[in-house]
Amino acid sequence: MPTPYGNAYIRSVGRFVPAGRLTNQDLEKMVDTSDEWIRARTGIRERRILEPGLGNSYMAIRAARECLERADVNPIDLDAIIVGTVTPDTPFASTAGLVQQALGARRAWGFDLSSACSGFIFSLTVGAQMIESGRSQKVLVIGSDVMSSVVDYADRNTCVLFGDGAGAVLLERVPEAGYGILDFVHRVDGSGAEFLNIKAGGSRMPASIETVKNKLHFVFQDGRQVYKRAVTEMANVSLQVLANNHLNGKDLALFVPHQANLRIIEACAARLAIGMDRVVVNIDRYANTNGATIPLCLYDICVEQPRVNKGDYLLMSAFGAGFSWGSILLRWWQ
Ligand code: ACO
Repeated sequence: MPTPYGNAYIRSVGRFVPAGRLTNQDLEKMVDTSDEWIRARTGIRERRILEPGLGNSYMAIRAARECLERADVNPIDLDAIIVGTVTPDTPFASTAGLVQQALGARRAWGFDLSSACSGFIFSLTVGAQMIESGRSQKVLVIGSDVMSSVVDYADRNTCVLFGDGAGAVLLERVPEAGYGILDFVHRVDGSGAEFLNIKAGGSRMPASIETVKNKLHFVFQDGRQVYKRAVTEMANVSLQVLANNHLNGKDLALFVPHQANLRIIEACAARLAIGMDRVVVNIDRYANTNGATIPLCLYDICVEQPRVNKGDYLLMSAFGAGFSWGSILLRWWQ
């Protein structure tokens, strides 16, 4: 659908990953698991873990600074800051506010957006629509999560899967028609809430001695249920957004999927008929960083090993708790 004031595009990226590494070999000493199991089932070799005592904003601020420095943009020019996260520093005030203050982005408003692994793509869509509306010129979108703060390192079912990290992108209006963020298909289905959640710490079951004793503040996941839905739904919305734009897998230069499990990524790529050489994968290095996986992938293809060119079609896709999922189609400009 044509946008009255033009599309948004990703002008710059930044990231922060903590220095601390937790390898599969380290986990072998903590729970009944093996490097072989973890690599075969998930593709993960190691994950980064934030130093205890530091919150989400520590990473988000650093990713944001790098992003703005790369574009040589003064924080005072930011209109809005959106942080996709489920592990904010505190339930409120928002992490976005802490980022605003640290950057000195005095004109900006902002908020946190909670949608687990879909948090970044949902935030990106909201930010893009702020630009498309003509109301905003510069929107900073961050995906940042400290999953180590909500993972039980005695539970082998979940502790091997997650890591910490942050990625940021700067959105501006694209100077040329036909480029930038073109389209999206997003969904949420609350019937999936029972399969992937944190049971306590919200208004229904506030924190108590009992909830702590019963480990109800940690991630609970029925891995098989999540796996099945993730493969089906990520592929369905990806095919839908491509079809809506008269494209197919062959037209894509790169597929940028949420990094939850290498097997999920491979299954989606197969349904889209995209060879793995056109799929961005870094789950081996960072594991599932929840809201940060897609911006960390963008950093890899824009900065670490640049392999994206003007005119390339890219498709991002994510699936997470909610259930929530979606895909975004963009055509690279610059
Ligand atoms: N090491 C060794 N064995 C393990 C481990 C481990 N770390 N974890 C589980 N096992 C065991 C299980 O106990 C089970 O044993 P059993 O058969 O004796 O009961 C066996 O391995 C097989 O378990 P499965 O659940 O069948 O393993 P599966 O192949 O499904 O892989 C996994 C599990 C990796 C969790 C997978 O289901 C998965 O990736 N699910 C989706 C994750 C995801 O996409 N999450 C979404 C985003 S998260 C978010 O939004 C917060």
